[in-house]
Amino acid sequence: MKTIEWKNNKVKIIDQTKLPHKLSFVYLRTLDQVVAAIKTMKIRGAPAIGVAAAFGMVFGEKNLKVAARKLLASRPTAVNLKWAVERMLKAKDLLKEAKEIAAEDVVTNKKIGENGLKVVRKGMRILTVCNAGALATVAYGTALGVIRSAHEAKRRIHVYAAETRPRLQGAKLTAWELKRERIPFTLITDNMVGYLMQKREIDLVITGADRIARNGDSANKIGTYGVAVLAKEHGIPFYIAAPTSTIDLKIRSGRQVVIEERDPKEVLEIGSESIAPKGAGVLNPAFDVTPARYIKGIISEKGILRPGRGGLSSQL
Ligand code: MRU
Repeated sequence: MKTIEWKNNKVKIIDQTKLPHKLSFVYLRTLDQVVAAIKTMKIRGAPAIGVAAAFGMVFGEKNLKVAARKLLASRPTAVNLKWAVERMLKAKDLLKEAKEIAAEDVVTNKKIGENGLKVVRKGMRILTVCNAGALATVAYGTALGVIRSAHEAKRRIHVYAAETRPRLQGAKLTAWELKRERIPFTLITDNMVGYLMQKREIDLVITGADRIARNGDSANKIGTYGVAVLAKEHGIPFYIAAPTSTIDLKIRSGRQVVIEERDPKEVLEIGSESIAPKGAGVLNPAFDVTPARYIKGIISEKGILRPGRGGLSSQL
């Protein structure tokens, strides 16, 4: 099953807003439908929105400049979207290029999975944040790709999935994927991480990333930075798993990453139930930046990159 694919001149996606209770598909037929699906997070996750943008460019072929502008404005943080749009702007055969971007994603994730085996030992208890799984990519996933390949290699791992407020990608999506694959896991709320680390219940942290700066600073789902600081305090290795298309060599450090600010409703409500007094002031940044010094390695399709060694450019 693929999270996104081209089918009969339409883009078929899993509607992630309906999970975990319903596995349903949506067919996108126009550029505006693709943009809306990205904005409303029917499709989300850095590599998956990159592929969606590539197909969006196919629909927007009559005016690629306008299509690129609309897609780039849909979600600002994940650089994969920009990377895919720029690739499409240079392409001769748009549909062929978009299909190639989608196919490459699966191969890349499998390689990330294989490369990640180097850091996973038998019996490890691994914490992950948000959803960096098959649902965040075309298939297989990045952080969950490493977890999948460790499970396939019979490393007898156990996963802790942080629920990931406010959108709950950990509870709704990661837990759904892990359950389907019969990978042993425990769902926790985000504020349980310190408690579990203190009790020595976590051996390794692997998360995805939305944009990685030249110096290795990595933007990922809000809450990741706090987890990385806690991991350092407890001597637990913290890894990012991401394709090299997530590395933005144009930016020197994480300070240059644009952090998406989302609708306050996502914080004020759970489901459609209000959980705060009317008029409460709200902040809702969707991502934070983990400085390179907290990151032991970036597991990519090209091997494990080390952020500390004079930046990433020389390692690519
Ligand atoms: O807001 P989302 O759900 O798109 O955020 C997703 C993440 O932060 C993922 O960890 C990241 O995109 C990597 S996905 C392989």
